[in-house]
Amino acid sequence: MSKTIRIGIIGSGGIARAHAHAYKAIPDVEIAAVADIIPGRAAEFVGREQLAGAAAFDDHRRLLELDVDGVSICTPNVAHYQTSVDALEAGKHVLVEKPMSVTLEQAVDMVRASNVAGKMLSVGFQPRYDPNMQIVRDFVQSGRLGNVYYVETGGGRRRGIPGGTFIRKELAGSGAMADIGCYSLDFALNALGYPKPLTVSAFTSNAFGTNPKYFHEADRFEVEDFAAALIRLEGGIVLNFKISWAMHMDTLGATMFLGSEAGLKVTPAGQGPWSGVMDGKLGSIRLFHDIGGHQTESPIPVIEHQINLFDEKVKDFVASIREGKPAPIPGEQILRNQAIIDGILRSAQSGREVEIDIPNV
Ligand SMILES: NC(=O)c1ccc[n+]([C@@H]2O[C@H](COP(=O)([O-])OP(=O)(O)OC[C@H]3O[C@@H](n4cnc5c(N)ncnc54)[C@H](O)[C@@H]3O)[C@@H](O)[C@H]2O)c1
Repeated sequence: MSKTIRIGIIGSGGIARAHAHAYKAIPDVEIAAVADIIPGRAAEFVGREQLAGAAAFDDHRRLLELDVDGVSICTPNVAHYQTSVDALEAGKHVLVEKPMSVTLEQAVDMVRASNVAGKMLSVGFQPRYDPNMQIVRDFVQSGRLGNVYYVETGGGRRRGIPGGTFIRKELAGSGAMADIGCYSLDFALNALGYPKPLTVSAFTSNAFGTNPKYFHEADRFEVEDFAAALIRLEGGIVLNFKISWAMHMDTLGATMFLGSEAGLKVTPAGQGPWSGVMDGKLGSIRLFHDIGGHQTESPIPVIEHQINLFDEKVKDFVASIREGKPAPIPGEQILRNQAIIDGILRSAQSGREVEIDIPNV
């Protein structure tokens, strides 16, 4: 029998349930404690989720005094930073929900804390476990596209503005970008091997979120519901990124990789009000290439999987703890994703292209 891995959950709202559910399904894993800043909420969660024997705290620092191997951070974005750093400093491995943080500075400090503690910092992008995402990455990495010079990605909901903490600048950091844009960026950057971002020229808007005709909390809306950006990446690659929570359009189009030898197109399924590549299901993956001077197109089968991506991410985190492996989705890599969001906000505010400068960690 293998050692029991002891887990703590910090933040016991909506997504914490998915974490609890996933941990409960893994043999030799025990949820030892839950913490939530709202008094009584963690205890309620322990009862509701039937986590027999789990301690409940109103302060995450009490949870971190316990002998737990890893923690899931399931708080609103604004609290990812302090709870992650405290957990790492207490010697716990961390699986933090996406987006990594509210600011780039926070993300840098989180990676530093992980390095100093020698503990994992993994970021919860579950689409990484979608076999289709792995196919796209393997394809781009195989070199069959030649030199990739242009990538277009993004996702769009036609009507899909969430409320609560998601629309408050100081709590979420940004709007559609922090909620769903970080997934699209991860999809494209992961396929490219996460090249360093160099500059960004961006535009953001809030035409829907601030209009009571389209959004019931319009007077409280502080973030962007749309962003478009041109990002220069190292290696002579340009990334055209766009994301929307609401728009008068069905889709913002496919993800495309243009290479010197071939191009890869990944289309969103585009059904209903939900669309976008990584915010919905993949429609198809196609390769455009040249044989004897003729442009040809071959479909690449989309894997219709029954895998629960969320459960896979939690399982992989536990496996990494158990086997002493590196973080499955390393904070050090996602720093570049966060740096792009930071650059987009700065560029949109100044109306100019800005440099992206990621401090050494
Ligand atoms: N991976 C995914 O598919 C996915 C889906 C939804 C949300 N998320 C992410 O999960 C996070 C939480 O989202 P949610 O919808 O569960 O939010 P939520 O508001 O339902 O729950 C957050 C909980 O954290 C608690 N909290 C706040 N500050 C805290 C602190 N300092 N210490 C302890 N508890 C604290 C709140 O009281 C609340 O109970 C967000 O970052 C969001 O982006 C990820």
